[in-house]
Amino acid sequence: MILEAKGIKKSYGKRQNRTEVLKGIDLNIEKGEFVSIMGASGSGKTTLLNVLSSIDRVTSGHIFIEDEDMTILKDKQLAEFRKNDLGFMFQEYNLLNTLTVKENILLPLSIRNKKKAEVEEQFKLVAKELEIYELKDKYPSEISGGQQQRTSAARAYIHQPKIIFADEPTGALDSKAANNLLRKLQQLNDKSNSTIMMVTHDATAASYSTRVIFLKDGLIYSTLRKGERSQEDYYKEIMNTQSVLGGVGVES
Ligand SMILES: Nc1ncnc2c1ncn2[C@@H]1O[C@H](COP(=O)(O)OP(=O)(O)OP(=O)(O)O)[C@@H](O)[C@H]1O
Ligand SMILES: [Mg+2]
Repeated sequence: MILEAKGIKKSYGKRQNRTEVLKGIDLNIEKGEFVSIMGASGSGKTTLLNVLSSIDRVTSGHIFIEDEDMTILKDKQLAEFRKNDLGFMFQEYNLLNTLTVKENILLPLSIRNKKKAEVEEQFKLVAKELEIYELKDKYPSEISGGQQQRTSAARAYIHQPKIIFADEPTGALDSKAANNLLRKLQQLNDKSNSTIMMVTHDATAASYSTRVIFLKDGLIYSTLRKGERSQEDYYKEIMNTQSVLGGVGVES
């Protein structure tokens, strides 16, 4: 097991304004899983991803990554862990405009003592895999949104993190660029056995993952596994569950 969450609760605000967003979530993720988190807007998807990835602290409960309890680490230790062992992708690509594609991708490696030849080789491998190698000397403003997001995927992956966390990574892409990115993530997951947790409101995006977790009212409402199904059948099942759940609308 790469990630284990036990009794996760998260509240925001104080006293009368206090709202409990996560009400007790238990979750086990195996190494090599590609998991989607779905649920209505405001159901707590981002909150869950943020506490699992230690961007934010839980109110109560415990999160173990490879048996290490994240919830008892000090801020400084957590920051180190995030930097060395986790990879992140967001809806906005979060690339630095003054750095080239290559420099952006190598950013997570720069602080570590790695041999130059090793770094070059790793870069080449990942950049080719994500089909951005030819763009390595361009700046973010000179490439398309899809290419920028694949650059940010390469950056999330270059240091071979234990888990990649992605919050609506296809949110700003058209469907062609989105599917291209999702196929790449699927390849990283398939070939390299990397573990991915992705928040999405899009059933097509979720159909690329191996398991979908649906949130409702701060709890896990249901789980779907792809299993031996075709991607199309899996997609239909995700749509069905979503419509029972109340679709993509705002949580009431
Ligand atoms: N920092 C915060 N302070 C107070 N309330 C917050 C904070 N962050 C989120 N919330 C509230 O927690 C609830 C869940 O928010 P969250 O961002 O996790 O939802 P989401 O499922 O990611 O929604 P969306 O699909 O719109 O991104 C919402 O009601 C939101 O207003
Ligand atoms: Mg969100």
